[in-house]
Amino acid sequence: MSNFFTSSIGKKFIMSITGLFLILFLCVHLTVNLLLLFGADAFNAGCEFMELPVIKVIEPILALGFIIHIIWASVLTLQNQKARPTKYALRNQSKNCTWASRNMYILGALVLAFLVLHICNFWLDFKFGDVANETVTQYELVSQKLAQPVYGIIYIIAAILLGLHLSHGFWSAFQTIGFSNQIWRKRLEYVAYFFAFVFAIGFSVIALRFLIFGA
Ligand code: HEM
Repeated sequence: MSNFFTSSIGKKFIMSITGLFLILFLCVHLTVNLLLLFGADAFNAGCEFMELPVIKVIEPILALGFIIHIIWASVLTLQNQKARPTKYALRNQSKNCTWASRNMYILGALVLAFLVLHICNFWLDFKFGDVANETVTQYELVSQKLAQPVYGIIYIIAAILLGLHLSHGFWSAFQTIGFSNQIWRKRLEYVAYFFAFVFAIGFSVIALRFLIFGA
């Protein structure tokens, strides 16, 4: 069994499971954040829901999922580069695979850079700063931040990068765990594009709302 997790397919398997778990988190996260479009009361109520003990238990698991996903991605990328020191002649590569699939690591790294900023922007304040001290509400903090052009634009770019990362990651995860054959491959590709589109547009619309109309 330990051989499986250190094998190349085992590492990909871990990437897939953690990746699918992160997609689940994003579904909940986007749903709560879309409440921002319905005003302060709706969003603040959504945030109260996120304070439930069951959600608190999921938080450290989520953090672990992110860490494992990132470490394994780095290990796999380094191993692939070592195994292939000189690049293949890649004449037909762009026909066989998408741009996103060839740039998964860099897309992931950019999403990670965004996450560091994002945690500093919101999570720290929610847990230890102004929101925790009740000097501002959750809605005030988030809306005032997104209304600043620099943040609004960064959030839109991050949403698009996340969408690109998921457009390949989602169906690739299913393929790795063995849930893909000739028929399902095409279907899962469409499902992946759907999720990618929903996340990219969903998060962008929230940022655009505050960028255009202010806090
Ligand atoms: C318009 C876009 C977004 C808004 C308004 C937003 C808002 C927030 C807020 C308010 C928090 C703090 C919640 C709390 O501590 O209770 C948070 C945490 C977090 N966000 Fe976002 N977010 C957005 C996009 C994203 C994206 C695209 C990702 C992933 C790539 C992401 C990943 C996370 C993570 C990992 C946390 C920390 C875990 C947690 O507290 O639940 N967010 N976000």
